[in-house]
Parts: sequence; structure tokens; C-alpha cells
Amino acid sequence: MAVNKSKYSFDFEEYDSIEDLSPTDALLVSEARKATSLAYAPYSNFKVGAYALLNNGSYLKGSNQENASYPVGICAERALLASIGQLFPNEPIVSMAISYDNLNGKSNKPLSPCGMCRQALQEYESRVNQPIRLLLSGLEGKIFIIEQSNSLLPFSFKGDDLK
Ligand code: THU
Repeated sequence: MAVNKSKYSFDFEEYDSIEDLSPTDALLVSEARKATSLAYAPYSNFKVGAYALLNNGSYLKGSNQENASYPVGICAERALLASIGQLFPNEPIVSMAISYDNLNGKSNKPLSPCGMCRQALQEYESRVNQPIRLLLSGLEGKIFIIEQSNSLLPFSFKGDDLK
């Protein structure tokens, strides 16, 4: 019996601190960290901030907005994508920094975007035909940089699958 084994992997960069980043990347990470303060997260106490640079030079922020009816809440990344969709329709995103402030316990492990946001980011990338560079971090310390968000969602379900 023939079995083809395949492997999926991707490269990412790991930085020890914001001081090791380029000025633009440092600004994005610092603003994403600040944007955590805009989160409305009284249920999870997990405040997420996102900050994006668009091709047209605009910067926009997002944060998670929760609800007493838990599934109604929206993540920071998708709140930001929704803003971009209204303010600058179809404008490609150069980079998006995402950070968090976990009031339940301190950790500076770089944020891992949830599956639903990975799906939304990937759709945005395909729709405007440009990868979104992700800068993932906690409030301090390490930053992971991933050149395209779809690396985080292998075997993803896409619009083409509906044809
Ligand atoms: N959350 C985000 O905003 N982004 C993520 O990538 C992970 C999770 C939010 C959703 C919810 O308000 C809280 O964090 C805890 O899951």
C-alpha cells in the first residue's frame, strides 16, 4: 500500500523584546499593547488589543468586546477587520500586531489567535490578495513575527471549496 507522507511547516521570527524591532514594528506592537485597555472583557478578564497598518498608510485599532450572552462577544482581530471593512473597504493590511493583558494571571507568552480569527484573517488575505504580517506578543517580552496569517491555518476551508 502506497502512503505519501507530507509535512506542513512554516518559518517565523522570534524577538526577545520590542527594542529589537524596526521602528514601525515597535510602534505596532506598542499600540496593540495599549489597545488592550480598550477591551470590554468583564467576563473573561482577558483583554486583547490589535493594531494594524494598511497599505494606504492608515493605522487602526481593535479590542475584544464581550457580552453577557457569551457567544455575542467579538475578538479584537475581527473587531478590527470589521472596522477596516467599513472605513477602508478592500484596503490590504501590511501588518497586524496583537497583544493581550490577562487579568487572571500574568503571562507574556505571545498571543495565539483563536481559530475563528485565523479563518477571518485568511479570508481577508485572499480577498485583497496580500498576506497579513502578524506580530504576536504579550504585554512585555517576546514577539513572534509570522509573514502571513494563513500559515496559522493549514488545510483551511475557503470560498473556492463552495464552488
Ligand atoms: N480573544 C480575542 O479577542 N482574540 C483572540 O485571538 C483570542 C481570544 C478574546 C475573546 C474573549 O473575549 C477573550 O479573549 C477570552 O477568550
